[in-house]
Amino acid sequence: MTSTLGPHTDISAQKIAQDRGAGFIASGASQTRAKRIGDRDKTAARLLRSAVERSYDGEVDIDWDEPWLDEKLFYPPHRLTLYGTRIWDKLSPEQRVELGKHEMVRVFSFGILVEGVLSVMLYRNIADGTLVDDSTRYMLTEIGDETRHSIMFSRAVNKIGVEPTLFPRFVTKAVMGVISLLPLGAWSFGWTLLFEEVLDRLQREAVPDEEIQPHLRQVFKIHVLEEARHITFAREELVRSYQAAGRIRQGLDRVLIALATSLVAPLTFWPGLYRRAIGMSAFRGFLAVQLGRNYSENVQFMCEPMVRYFHEAGLIRGWLTTRIWRVARALPDDIYEEVVGRPRKERTPSLAGRAVRWLVGA
Ligand SMILES: [Fe+2]
Ligand SMILES: [Fe+2]
Repeated sequence: MTSTLGPHTDISAQKIAQDRGAGFIASGASQTRAKRIGDRDKTAARLLRSAVERSYDGEVDIDWDEPWLDEKLFYPPHRLTLYGTRIWDKLSPEQRVELGKHEMVRVFSFGILVEGVLSVMLYRNIADGTLVDDSTRYMLTEIGDETRHSIMFSRAVNKIGVEPTLFPRFVTKAVMGVISLLPLGAWSFGWTLLFEEVLDRLQREAVPDEEIQPHLRQVFKIHVLEEARHITFAREELVRSYQAAGRIRQGLDRVLIALATSLVAPLTFWPGLYRRAIGMSAFRGFLAVQLGRNYSENVQFMCEPMVRYFHEAGLIRGWLTTRIWRVARALPDDIYEEVVGRPRKERTPSLAGRAVRWLVGA
């Protein structure tokens, strides 16, 4: 296994994932294809049976009284936002562990907010329906899953012992208010997939990683097992909703999904945590991450299954949509080439660009 805690490393995140056997990443993940969408209630009935067989509760399935293990990590180092930068090279092993704790807490606390948003959207879908069918019962079950996940994440944060770096309260309130008022549609299932698949991808990779704290691997395992059915339901609902919409509405859905994707990575890597974790300014942290060599690679890794599904469902097309996707840096090379019409160019940074990178330590 490749150690990533040495004083200097320039091994790419992709290489590390391959060394650890990238095959496990796909195992157990949702296999739903955009071209084979089944009947809504039949899918819901199947997922309800899965929920009976495969449901977990972090309150009983994790021994929270067991202490952390000294030599284990809190986040896969090659997925840390500063990995591969000159700042990373200069961090001590202790600082890297501390940064890992803060980034893990950031992901969990963002997860709690997002699961609340998803539950609100599910309740709105329930209110729109007949209230007594399998789809309703499935959505209620999913809300129950998300509630248990959020409780599990909050326990993990308390156990790590780091204060979450939250968004300013007015931002959270404004975003929640807007999301509660927007008319539901394909965009809402696209956003659901964005939150669920990105988290799923990160956690699925870390489940078999023996360098990570066993408590956290158990949290990830419980989460990805239950999220697989959520992703299946949202993938099917996305296609049904999109196909039922008119052309203008479809264009709006495509833009809203692309916009959310371009925002989610910077939001997940909220830069305020760098000051608390390693005493570095938020602005410098933000620039170093954005200009770092691994940023695009990590965003593409996190988004890949979701982007391939969006592409298959016809959601990555149109002048404005494709431009936003390019800014998001989330398209894998083959989809980029298909959508843009030419291969992605490896750009040599300008002298000014290289100077900024050097100044911020990217
Ligand atoms: Fe969840
Ligand atoms: Fe979920």
